[in-house]
Amino acid sequence: MPSLETTVDGLTLPNPFIIASGPPGTNLRVINRAFREGWGGVIAKTVSLDHKKVINVSPRYAKLKSADNKEVIGWENIELISDRSFEIWLDEFKACKDEFPDRVLIASVMEELNKDAWCEMIERCQDAGVDAFELNFSCPHGLPERKMGAAMGQDPEILEEVCGWVNGVSKIPVWAKMTPNITHIEDPARAALAAGCEGVSAINTIRSVMGVDLDTLRPQPTVEGYSTPGGYSSKAVKPIALRMVMELAQLTRKEFPGKSVSAIGGIETGSDAAQFILLGADTVQVCTGVMKFGYSVVKQMCEELEAFMEKKGFANLEDFRGHSLDYFTTHTDLVNRQAARKASQKTDTDWNGDDFVKQSNELAGG
Ligand SMILES: Cc1cc2nc3c(=O)[nH]c(=O)nc-3n(C[C@H](O)[C@H](O)[C@H](O)COP(=O)(O)O)c2cc1C
Repeated sequence: MPSLETTVDGLTLPNPFIIASGPPGTNLRVINRAFREGWGGVIAKTVSLDHKKVINVSPRYAKLKSADNKEVIGWENIELISDRSFEIWLDEFKACKDEFPDRVLIASVMEELNKDAWCEMIERCQDAGVDAFELNFSCPHGLPERKMGAAMGQDPEILEEVCGWVNGVSKIPVWAKMTPNITHIEDPARAALAAGCEGVSAINTIRSVMGVDLDTLRPQPTVEGYSTPGGYSSKAVKPIALRMVMELAQLTRKEFPGKSVSAIGGIETGSDAAQFILLGADTVQVCTGVMKFGYSVVKQMCEELEAFMEKKGFANLEDFRGHSLDYFTTHTDLVNRQAARKASQKTDTDWNGDDFVKQSNELAGG
């Protein structure tokens, strides 16, 4: 039986499947449920010091369905970070670690551009016993209006400064969660890793507008007749996430060997996970997939990943992590490879192909 156990930045997880920050990790009750269902780790919903500044609206979700209306392919949200108090969260982190001391609980944190605020938040969360941090530099809606989230994550200089503050006080591993709403994801990732983060996570949601209602002529999701661009997730974003994870894995390989990559974006099955691991991911995170299929989906994901490994003869995740990275090249190189293959086939055809068959037939009097 292949083993799904993995150790990342000193944290040992029974499997690489982690609940991504969002509704599936929104309070102690659901986090504990996730551990009971077998998730390898949980990243709680993003917290900040002052929850009173976080005011959500509804509706805050909009869905893109398949043509037969049966399947959700894309999911837009304009949900903010947690609107629950920081003090309650600290109690819940402690209670969770009391019940699951051996499981990996990661605090997702976000603050304004203020060193004292970041340091206070980090120190208090680590005192509560969390195992690692994920810095949310990537929420694409609402928070950027307060210069938080993606507003920081799009600016490598600010990001390096904030990561420096965090790493100055954090005694546990720190992952920086990257925004996909940028041309070159390597630039902010490089800044975060250079500032001492142990790893990067990607992707957060992609800035989007779900649609326009053709009866009311109002954009969706519609709140009091108006909308604002939100974050796109689910199956539809997987190809973009794969590309960005591939770029991050190549960056760490070349410039930061030993740093980790946590993949996120449209992961719903063990096969999805296998693809991200083949492109260099150390762990895989799931958010919308849990909202669509429930916490128990992790069991099927583990089974599918094990079945893939068994079929391919991989004993553990290390056996295939990053394997497919070697097969990316430039377009020019693809052209050259194809030309070379065609040239060699032409020779083969001259020698063995149709002409040869025709000649044989002629010789045989056919
Ligand atoms: C409703 C919703 C709320 C989210 N809230 C957060 C959040 O508080 N912090 C965060 O870092 N990411 C948040 N995310 C982003 C997810 O963690 C994840 O990066 C993204 O949805 C892509 O993964 P998925 O396709 O598995 O959902 C949220 C996503 C959704 C759909």
